[in-house]
Amino acid sequence: MTVLILGGAGYVGSHATDEFLARGYDVAVVDNLSTGHRAAVDEKARFYEGDIRDKTFLSDVFTKEKNIEGVMHFCAYSLVGESMEKPLMYFENNVGGAITLLEVMNDFNVKHIVFSSTAATFGIPKETPITEQTPQNPINPYGESKLIMEKMMKWQASATDMTYVALRYFNVAGAKHDGSIGEAHKNETHLIPIILQVALGQREKIMIYGDDYQTEDGTCVRDYIGMADLIDAHIKALDYLKTGGQSDAFNLGTKTGYSNLQVLETARKVTGHAIPSEIGPRRAGDPDALVADSSKAQAILKWTPSEKLADIIQNAWSWHQKHPHGYED
Ligand code: UFG
Repeated sequence: MTVLILGGAGYVGSHATDEFLARGYDVAVVDNLSTGHRAAVDEKARFYEGDIRDKTFLSDVFTKEKNIEGVMHFCAYSLVGESMEKPLMYFENNVGGAITLLEVMNDFNVKHIVFSSTAATFGIPKETPITEQTPQNPINPYGESKLIMEKMMKWQASATDMTYVALRYFNVAGAKHDGSIGEAHKNETHLIPIILQVALGQREKIMIYGDDYQTEDGTCVRDYIGMADLIDAHIKALDYLKTGGQSDAFNLGTKTGYSNLQVLETARKVTGHAIPSEIGPRRAGDPDALVADSSKAQAILKWTPSEKLADIIQNAWSWHQKHPHGYED
C-alpha cells in the first residue's frame, strides 16, 4: 500500500517523505515545486511534478498509484503576512486545492487523509494553553483558509465513508537530526531560521518584533514543536485512521511556551555565537502567546513530543551549517 504525500518537496512534506520511507512505507510524492525543492525529495519516492488544483493531473496520479491507503496534505500556502496582502491567492490555492483533492479521493475511493492545520485557526485565543474546545476565530486569511479546509473535510466525512485527521501545528522548527534536509524558504520570515542566518553571518542582526506584549518579558510567546515529533504525529494519525479511528482534530505542541528573547538566548547557547539583536516595532497580526494543550493527541494518538527547544535549534543549526544556501548548495 502507498502513502501519497502532497507537497512532499516542501519543508514539512520532505521530512514526512523521508520518515515514511525510513519506516518501510511505499511513498509517492506530488509537488508543483512552487516553494518546494526537488532535491529535498528522497529518490526512493516516486515523484510527480504538478498541481493538485489540476484535476486531470491529479486523477492521472491516482490512476497510476493504484494502492493509495492514505493521503498526507502538505501543499498549502502558509505565510500569515503574505495572506493579508493576497487573500484570494490563499483561498484559491488552499481551499481550491482541497476541493479538487477531496473530489479525486472520492472518485478513486481513497478513504483517509491527514491534513496540516494550524494554530492560526484560533486567532487571538482567550485562554491558554489552547485546547480543541477553544473557539476558532482566525484573524488572517491563512488561518481562515485552513479553518475552511477543516470544515470541508468534516462535511465530506459526514457525507461519505472518508475519514480525516486535522493536525493543528503550533510553531514548527528544526530539521532532520543529521542536517541532511531542513528549512529553506526563498524569503525567510520565521524566527529560528532568521536567528541562525545571523549566527552564520548572513544577516547583521535579528529584529525582535515588539517587547510590549502581555507576556513575562514583553516579547511574544510560542510553542515550538520539533520536526521529528511532528512527523511522528502524522504517522500515528494515519495508523489511527487505518485502524478505524473517527475523523478528528488535534492540537500539536508541547504545552511549553518560549518568548522570542528566550529563543534567542537558547540559540546563542547552542551556536556559541553572539547573535546581535534589536527590538523593533510589532509585526501586524502577532498574538501575544500561542501555547498548545496536546493532551488529546497524547491520549488518542498516543503521541508524546520529546524534542526540547535546544534540541530543535541544534537540529536546525546542523542543517544551516551544512547547507548555508539551502538546496542551492
Ligand atoms: N519574529 C521576530 N523577528 C523575526 C521573525 C519573527 O521577532 O525576524 C517573531 C514574530 O513576531 C513572532 C515570533 O517571532 O512573535 C514567531 O514568528 P514566526 O514568523 O517564526 O512564526 P509565527 O508564530 O508567526 O507563525 C508560525 C507559522 C504559522 C502558524 C503559527 C502558529 O508560520 O503558519 O506559527 O503558531 F500559524
